[in-house]
Amino acid sequence: MAEVVIVENEAAAGVLIAQSIRGLIESRPDAVLGLATGSTPIPVYQALAASFAADPLDVSRVRGFALDEYVGLPFGHPESYRQVITREVVEPLGLTAANIHVPDGSLATIEHAGLDYEQAILEAGGVDVQILGIGRTGHLGFNEPGSSFGSLTRVKTLTEKTRVDNARFFDSPEQVPMHCITQGLGTILRARHLVLLAFGAGKADAIAAAVEGPMTASQPGSAIQLHPHVTVVVDAAAASKL
Ligand code: GLP
Repeated sequence: MAEVVIVENEAAAGVLIAQSIRGLIESRPDAVLGLATGSTPIPVYQALAASFAADPLDVSRVRGFALDEYVGLPFGHPESYRQVITREVVEPLGLTAANIHVPDGSLATIEHAGLDYEQAILEAGGVDVQILGIGRTGHLGFNEPGSSFGSLTRVKTLTEKTRVDNARFFDSPEQVPMHCITQGLGTILRARHLVLLAFGAGKADAIAAAVEGPMTASQPGSAIQLHPHVTVVVDAAAASKL
């Protein structure tokens, strides 16, 4: 059963999770963080940056693995998750860029990119804490409905709903890539601690299905019920259907 923490607002969630991640890095300077993109985890990164600014900590050995990436965006595209992670996490937190991994969405190497990524996570000793947002379709990473609970990093097709949701980051909906490479639900479940965040009424159905619904591939978020150590941090609106 997941531990559900209801917080006042996104900033409070950020501070709470940042404290826990800071504690992890203090006890393990080469901690492995599982990084999520999207708007949801931004308060966590902001709170961590504020914490490091107020009380500096050596984070040069911290390692990180992003959940997912678009397939086929030109190298350096500002909305590629490689660029987003650099902008929102690596630079503000002062992490060492070479320690932070993002699945490789280039078409030339896509055939073995999934296996390569799994290997890199294994070689790092696995993820200590995985930060997760959730999509309105219930997706974790880009594991859309129908994803197997045992799946590993692989190429997936984005649903129309997710492409529409993510169109806000692009100039037009047609520019949102059709495909992505994402850690599988099985990859995510191997992390030692999952921290799932959600804010706002638009996420209430996905959170209820993830935390209390039947475990089913049509609600990828429900895979968290298989994990022994899950913390769900939500505001009252996202918790309203629990
Ligand atoms: C994105 C990401 C997910 C994220 C989700 C929710 O497309 N691939 O990792 O959790 O959709 O996004 P947001 O946090 O912006 O609502």
